[in-house]
Amino acid sequence: MNGCSSSKKNSTEEKNETNIELISARKKVPGITMQQLRLGNKIYIRDCSGCHALHKPSEFTAEKWPPILDTMFVKAKISDSATKALITDYLIAKSK
Ligand code: HEC
Repeated sequence: MNGCSSSKKNSTEEKNETNIELISARKKVPGITMQQLRLGNKIYIRDCSGCHALHKPSEFTAEKWPPILDTMFVKAKISDSATKALITDYLIAKSK
């Protein structure tokens, strides 16, 4: 009878952490999904680490990121609107 709930507890805790991350992200970007957050993170690392160390999303507020990104998308030569949206939503969802 003892010990049979331990593995179940771990996966529940993992789910709760994911839910907390998603709830806080959705306060800034309503309706964003975990998949979009993960993909945004991947593309951000891929496209934005070439010239300088990556800045933490929490370095700037949701209001500060868009004008910075306008400049950086030009520098990074990113013109695809889906790519821009993924990076923008990821950074705003995790902003200060
Ligand atoms: C071609 C090189 C290059 C690429 C690629 C690049 N950056 Fe930059 N970034 C710079 C330079 C140079 C600066 C510092 C001088 C400046 O602000 O223009 C900078 C500064 C920054 C800053 C600090 C701005 C501030 O006001 O303190 C942030 C944040 C930033 N970049 C984000 C990004 C993001 C997000 C991407 C990906 C979309 C990106 N960068 C891609 C060259 C680049």
